[in-house]
Amino acid sequence: MEVKTIIGICGSIRQHSSSHVILEEIVRMLPAEIVFEAYDNLASVPAFDDREEDPEPVKDFKAILKKADGIFISSPEYAFGVPGALKNALDWTVGTGDFFHKPVALVTASSQGVKAHESMQYILAALAAELYPKNTLLISNIRSKVKDGRVADDETRQALQALVTSFVTSLKTKSVDSF
Ligand SMILES: Cc1cc2nc3c(=O)[nH]c(=O)nc-3n(C[C@H](O)[C@H](O)[C@H](O)COP(=O)(O)O)c2cc1C
Repeated sequence: MEVKTIIGICGSIRQHSSSHVILEEIVRMLPAEIVFEAYDNLASVPAFDDREEDPEPVKDFKAILKKADGIFISSPEYAFGVPGALKNALDWTVGTGDFFHKPVALVTASSQGVKAHESMQYILAALAAELYPKNTLLISNIRSKVKDGRVADDETRQALQALVTSFVTSLKTKSVDSF
């Protein structure tokens, strides 16, 4: 059985972020042959300035991305957009292709989230990441669906399980019947 590694990125650096709860739920749903590693250092990444040599936190971020067979992003929407810390970290990868052809799963978990969800899809297209519609999920009204650090809504749990199953298929085949 081939082991695959997923790197999880939480778009919110808030301590009790719902997006973090989503990632923890995802880990419980993954099959045993998938290794999950969280990248939780977005706050250390300096503002993108296109300098020649990457600062250390950016090198660390890119080193973690390098070992990923797939990347799982779970993020809220802030002010009708992608949270600044996440967008900034992704900006550092535009010129260096760290997401190039990497399978990505995207969950936007927010009060509404429509705009950030759409925006993230444009960003991931700019990064030439491999993002299929089946590997995306918008969860609105997230606060009412999370309780005591767990996803408490059955429909949302089922949607997450379907997303995980589809994403694992993408990792194993690097192509999925997605349209
Ligand atoms: C500064 C700020 C801006 C927000 N803007 C939006 C927004 O534009 N759209 C939306 O759906 N929710 C917005 N929210 C609400 C978040 O979706 C909600 O608080 C969510 O639970 C935050 O995610 P988190 O728990 O992962 O931090 C905003 C929250 C904050 C704190």
